[in-house]
Amino acid sequence: MAHDHHATGHGHGHQHGHGHEHGHGHGTDIDWNEMAPLLESQAELFSPVYERAMAWLAQEVTEPGLIVDAGSGPGVVSCLFAEAFPGARVVAVDGTAPLLERARARAARLGFADRFDTLAGELPDVLGELEYPADLLWASRSLHHLGDQRAALAAFAERLAPGGTLALLEGGLPSRFLPRDIGIGRPGLQARLDVLEEEWFARMRAELPGSVAETEDWPALLAAAGLTHTRTRTFLLDLPAPAADRTRAYVAAHLSRLREGFGDALDAEDRATLDRLLDPSDPASVHVRPDVFVLGAYTVHTAVRPV
Ligand SMILES: C[S@@+](CC[C@H](N)C(=O)[O-])C[C@H]1O[C@@H](n2cnc3c(N)ncnc32)[C@H](O)[C@@H]1O
Repeated sequence: MAHDHHATGHGHGHQHGHGHEHGHGHGTDIDWNEMAPLLESQAELFSPVYERAMAWLAQEVTEPGLIVDAGSGPGVVSCLFAEAFPGARVVAVDGTAPLLERARARAARLGFADRFDTLAGELPDVLGELEYPADLLWASRSLHHLGDQRAALAAFAERLAPGGTLALLEGGLPSRFLPRDIGIGRPGLQARLDVLEEEWFARMRAELPGSVAETEDWPALLAAAGLTHTRTRTFLLDLPAPAADRTRAYVAAHLSRLREGFGDALDAEDRATLDRLLDPSDPASVHVRPDVFVLGAYTVHTAVRPV
């Protein structure tokens, strides 16, 4: 299996893009490598969602020989695939080589090294370097970082074995971490942050190399890529209050990225509220307040390559 040939960026030595859950800044460039700890802790926290999604996939994808995780990041989910499908070989594919190093280290720690590979390079073209077609190709929140999503889906579909399944995790609902009224500031802060995040996302897409505007009707796009039997299912991440420490840490990390990226665009009252939420010495902060939770919804779309 091809192994980390090259780590191409868009000519800058790092990838650009946006983790819809995390990556924010004034510009739309992201240093994915810098985000590694966040990507890892997020994927670990979200493991129940991935595990349920995999159980759902396993109803139709029986005994896959090769699973490809396209845009795997640090490989938390790739390793969950290796665990859920013990007969499968897993290839984690990503544009950021250091994230794939983490993926390999994780696979080794978990005892999957003998059936785990990585492939570094730009999606979707790098998929051409796979030695075998995939029985299951999973792309979680990576397609939306590619300029031409329709063309990328066609390229993904091309790399499927006949009868193979393409599974996209895209969309769902904006996550909630706090009640609407948190007793400080103006109620509805998260809804206002959502608006800023949407604007950022649109800018990020528009600035991608080869960006093509696309209606995000994922089942229709899967069908246009020549795939059939489209199915859609949404999985809930429900971590109610009282939150575990790692849940609080995730909420704090997420909100501080929003503060960094969008703080200036908030009005003074919302900015002050967000600062209090992030100040560990404030009893109203997410570090100590009792009402912190995580509620998220993640949608998976699947389709099959005709035999
Ligand atoms: C938001 S992260 C998703 C990681 C993981 N799939 C998950 O759901 O947690 C997006 C990943 O896509 C990768 N990526 C973004 N643009 C890419 C491109 N053009 N080619 C290859 N990988 C890319 C990034 O390096 C990053 O690891």
